[in-house]
Amino acid sequence: VEGNEGASEPRFSEWACQRSTPLKHQNDFLATQLEILQKYAEMKDENHDYSRALAFRRASCVVKSFPITVTNVNQLNGINHVGPHSKRVIGELLDGYCDEINRIVNEEWFEKMKMFTGVFGVGPSTAKKWIERGWTSIKDAQESTDISKDWRVQWGLAFHDDLMNPVKSNEAYRFTEIIQTEAEKILPGIVVQLTGGFRRGKHQGHDIDILFTHPNGEETGFLPKLLTRLEKLNMVLCGSHESSSFHEKVLSEDFKLTARGQLDHFEKWLGICKLPKDLVSGDDAQIPLSNGLEKCTEIKENVDSLDDYEPKAKKQRKCHGDNSPFTIATSERDWIARRVDFIMSPYSQYYYALVGWTGSKQFNRDLRLYSQKVLNRKLTSHGFYDFTTGKTLPANSETEVFENLNLQYQHPKNRNC
Ligand code: GTP
Ligand code: MN
Ligand code: MN
Repeated sequence: VEGNEGASEPRFSEWACQRSTPLKHQNDFLATQLEILQKYAEMKDENHDYSRALAFRRASCVVKSFPITVTNVNQLNGINHVGPHSKRVIGELLDGYCDEINRIVNEEWFEKMKMFTGVFGVGPSTAKKWIERGWTSIKDAQESTDISKDWRVQWGLAFHDDLMNPVKSNEAYRFTEIIQTEAEKILPGIVVQLTGGFRRGKHQGHDIDILFTHPNGEETGFLPKLLTRLEKLNMVLCGSHESSSFHEKVLSEDFKLTARGQLDHFEKWLGICKLPKDLVSGDDAQIPLSNGLEKCTEIKENVDSLDDYEPKAKKQRKCHGDNSPFTIATSERDWIARRVDFIMSPYSQYYYALVGWTGSKQFNRDLRLYSQKVLNRKLTSHGFYDFTTGKTLPANSETEVFENLNLQYQHPKNRNC
């Protein structure tokens, strides 16, 4: 049935997790503008409650999943999460001019905040400090001798030119294949899954997120071995390994849904890898996949003994200051620096981890809030806990995660809120 009022058919859920939010949608301009307000509110937020920022994000999320192009603000009447402020802004944008946004995008402070928070390891508070010091460019930070001790900031600055260049999906797929090949040698049967934005069908992103699990529960010690192997392949620039901090209480303990989202307790490695340039350049048609892989495995020595992979105790994590960052001009190296996240999940938690790490961040926020408010259950990347029965519900597929939540399955490509 064609409804010319648009908004009401089919029923437009207040929950983003009950809606489909594709990458390409009807209201790109409005969504982008609302997210400027979100970003600005996040940066201004002194008490870290992010409620203002989230309100704009929810409004943006609404227009992204709205079935038609919004041409009149009244089309959004009665739709949840489009509050008076967002409504006024949308009305002004549709009329051609929104003073509030116009002032923000012309603010030098906003420009600098975006620039500085674009550095790996730099959040709004560090960015503010840099601005207070009078720094106006990345170069100012790079040239300073009084910079954060944080390894992420140091390396993030040293390779900022590479890192600010978005990772393309081709790169992410090919890197994942290399990891798959190496991982399989270390631990046969290991599951290697590219997650994050690329799993949602994005064509570019700020990093490569790879989730691991092992069906037989043999995952202990795998990540350090993988890192040792990648170091031998000369593919690691720096990084930090975190052991699992999971304990059963994590599933059930009372929790507050923070606007910033929740950190999980998985074992992980966050860092910067070196991707061979010829793996990165060109497109699939010109460079057969195998070339990229061969180039990379060429460097390898034989891998017969698993002992080779044993991490040396001290090596547990390098790059926490003892190994000072350096720079090499792009033209003088055959690799490009890329942000990489490796996450290891126990098999019993894997499908919850997969949903959590596929994102988007906003989709997860919504799933978790829905779970808390509608189902009185706690959803995390580790599992799904029922406060009434005191039980956790297992899931043996991603579909089962949605079934447990009593939700229609949403394909990753429709989780782009
Ligand atoms: P781009 O990398 O910019 O393309 O976007 P992305 O969606 O991949 O974002 P990101 O790499 O930051 O995160 C991927 C998913 O993992 C998102 O849904 C995040 O919510 C989630 N995520 C990232 N870091 C953490 C973390 O420390 N804990 C948990 N639980 N989730 C995280
Ligand atoms: Mn990502
Ligand atoms: Mn990530």
